[in-house]
Amino acid sequence: MGKVAAVVLAAGKGTRMKSEKAKVLFPLAGRPMLQHIVDILIEIGVDDIYTVVGYEAGTVQASIAGPITWVEQREQLGTGHALAQAAAYLGDFPGVVLVLAGDMPLITEATLKELLTRHAQEGNAATVLSARVPDPTGYGRVVRSADGRLKAIVEEKDADDRQRQVDEINSAIYCFDWGRAGALMSRLGRDNAQGEYYLTEIISLLAGDKDKLGIHVAADHREVMGINDRVQLAQAEKILRRRICHKLMREGVSVLDPDSTWIDADVRIARDTTILPNTQIKGQTTIGGNSVIGPSVTIQASALGEGVCVQYAVLEGATVEDGVSVGPFAYLRPGAVVGRQAKIGDFVEIKNSRIGPGTKVPHLAYVGDAEVGANSNIGCGVITANYDGASKQKTTIGDGVFIGSNANLVAPVRVGDNAYVAAGSTVTEDVPPRALAIARTRQTNKADWRKKD
Ligand code: UD1
Ligand code: CA
Repeated sequence: MGKVAAVVLAAGKGTRMKSEKAKVLFPLAGRPMLQHIVDILIEIGVDDIYTVVGYEAGTVQASIAGPITWVEQREQLGTGHALAQAAAYLGDFPGVVLVLAGDMPLITEATLKELLTRHAQEGNAATVLSARVPDPTGYGRVVRSADGRLKAIVEEKDADDRQRQVDEINSAIYCFDWGRAGALMSRLGRDNAQGEYYLTEIISLLAGDKDKLGIHVAADHREVMGINDRVQLAQAEKILRRRICHKLMREGVSVLDPDSTWIDADVRIARDTTILPNTQIKGQTTIGGNSVIGPSVTIQASALGEGVCVQYAVLEGATVEDGVSVGPFAYLRPGAVVGRQAKIGDFVEIKNSRIGPGTKVPHLAYVGDAEVGANSNIGCGVITANYDGASKQKTTIGDGVFIGSNANLVAPVRVGDNAYVAAGSTVTEDVPPRALAIARTRQTNKADWRKKD
């Protein structure tokens, strides 16, 4: 294949989203729509990626990663005008220009490759990716001649009744032989229902010049779905999430209920892990093999090892090492690091703390800004009082420590290796290794406290 430059049109506001945010930044499976397209273009290995931005250009540029040449379109005068801005950069580019809209993130690498191949094999001046859809409302319609050749693309607002009946739509993805199409940019007009420069007019101009045009019909119309409003966004999200679950299953991960499982595009899960229903795994999360996640777990930007079991829990920015069990009803907040084979049980919150290997925090505890050693036991109802009203203080607990039920550890405080803290103690001073700290008043029983009736 010769040289290929891609131009992504992403300057529009996306009026139908009814948002201040640029449409192409709306996330889908945890990534901005536009990022999905850029990532596919990187994967198919195009030579250059130009992205046309306008509305909220600075925010769009800052939110998208990749080897992109940004092209500014100051006024959004239509898709033809957007491509014309990129034409200034393309000059007399000696190859194929692949044009895509920034609002169709379901397109796949395979379909783009098929389009490029057909374009090259047929030697076309332009090849349009089309699709037959159950409901063509809102899309530009493909107009073919009696012998099936591409003649024009007519926008819905410009279409007559007969054209509106056509169920073959323009995807807004095209291949152009730039030597032929580039020369037409200055001939685009805005004499249409929307008063815009339509990119699609290139097709009728080429047809008029008797240039060779081709069509590639997408096998799966869902791939070319354009996202214009939040209803379509939700539909696309569902399709993409289903695809992600299927891919994981093919790679050896069991997803018991794909309908209630939400896994972001950047998540990595190793083989023989099982994902139970009502689970959301988001951001740059990694999960090792042979783990069981769910039911009802939300994990965000966390790293989990192998053989981990997490149920009914929320994890954010946490690190969970091999063989750890979390939940039910646990909350691991940013900076929680749980060592191998440790257990975090029910109604436990861990924040910015390291829990050593083999340590158990089985129930009803808060551990914040703490360092806990190996094989210690943090009893039921224990809390680290880490906040003095002004700043956060650290609690350090050694190896083999036993903290009795309902103890308060008032930070800053240290409990040495193999020490004991008696149940109900409020510890305000350091406990030496192997000592027993008792920090509570002795019980007195007042005899005959209640008078006889
Ligand atoms: C466009 C096509 C239509 C096709 C549909 C597929 C045209 C005239 N129409 O319509 O045939 O069926 O996509 O989804 O091309 N953009 C700019 N600058 C502009 C205007 C738009 O960069 O001045 C960008 C938008 O950000 C968007 C893309 O171009 O990513 C498409 O624009 P949009 O307004 O959504 O076009 P449609 O009306 O959907
Ligand atoms: Ca659109």
